Amino acid sequence: MKISSFLHFAGFGIKTILFRKKDPILGTVIVTDKCNLHCKHCSVNNITAIIHPYEQIKGEMQQLFDMGIRILFFCGGETFMWRDGDRTLRDLVKEAKAMGFLIVNVVTNGTFPIDLPEADLILLSLDGDRERHNAVRGDTYDTIMKNIAAATSDNICFYMAVNKINKDAIRDVCHTARDTKNVRAVSFNFHTPYPDTRELALTRDEKKECCDIIRQMMKEKVPVFNLKSAFPYIIDNSFPTPCHQCVVIENGKVSVCGRCIEIPGLCDECGYFFVAEYTLLFRGNLRIIFEMLGTYLKYV
Ligand SMILES: C[S@@+](CC[C@H](N)C(=O)[O-])C[C@H]1O[C@@H](n2cnc3c(N)ncnc32)[C@H](O)[C@@H]1O
Ligand code: SF4
Ligand code: SF4
Repeated sequence: MKISSFLHFAGFGIKTILFRKKDPILGTVIVTDKCNLHCKHCSVNNITAIIHPYEQIKGEMQQLFDMGIRILFFCGGETFMWRDGDRTLRDLVKEAKAMGFLIVNVVTNGTFPIDLPEADLILLSLDGDRERHNAVRGDTYDTIMKNIAAATSDNICFYMAVNKINKDAIRDVCHTARDTKNVRAVSFNFHTPYPDTRELALTRDEKKECCDIIRQMMKEKVPVFNLKSAFPYIIDNSFPTPCHQCVVIENGKVSVCGRCIEIPGLCDECGYFFVAEYTLLFRGNLRIIFEMLGTYLKYV
């Protein structure tokens, strides 16, 4: 991370903590909900299957920038399916950088060729070893591994959503992250039980076992892009929600924290580690602050 970006985030953090401000810093643009997969745990694919046009996405990026947001995520649906004429996702990333966003990340299922050197991080969903990943995501593991090997940059971070199907594959994903070229780290979430996927939710004890394994992996120097100081809050779902520093925009509609904010009671069972990490950070939790400084400077 550039020193100027670090200073911007440090200033934002200090103001937010001292004055209990609720201004956002992280924004996500949903470029489409169209997706080539139908993963077992996912409730947000192919609801409209509309690919939003370039001018609309550009306007949404500008809207987020004007709100003070400087960390931008592109998400979907499948982001690599986004197209408008000759324009591709790579053009959106370049546009975001030119607009002044300090960090630009993309979330993808990894089934398309990866040529995004301008992104700070490509969060690539890997949900287990071949067997368990394919059980969640269809027969995609080998394609993904080929695309990673052929990627034009080493800015990939695995993104694993841990649920009842793949909870015993955390070690596999950690070791694959450590041993695979072009992969920098791995980041975890627990399944967030939307009404149609409640059966995949982990119990408190299962979450604790998973966090113990992740902690062990960190001790073994696996590059994990999460904060272990947040684990106790994540296990108990005792972190504050929603995250006011995060917003999502989809087809012109802005939501605080996530699109899921409209689902009654879901925030009490939220599995997204970033929500715990950010809300605790901006409440001034000292352990989180120090751990985040080390982790972000290492991987972004
Ligand atoms: C909705 S997908 C969109 C981007 C891309 N299609 C992908 O799969 O990475 C973004 C991330 O959300 C995760 N996800 C989907 N449903 C989830 C849920 N109910 N709880 C936690 N994570 C979930 C996916 O595994 C993926 O890592
Ligand atoms: S690839 Fe992503 S958007 Fe598509 S179904 Fe799977 S999790 Fe959902
Ligand atoms: S806190 Fe609520 S709105 Fe935010 S990601 Fe979790 S479930 Fe969604």
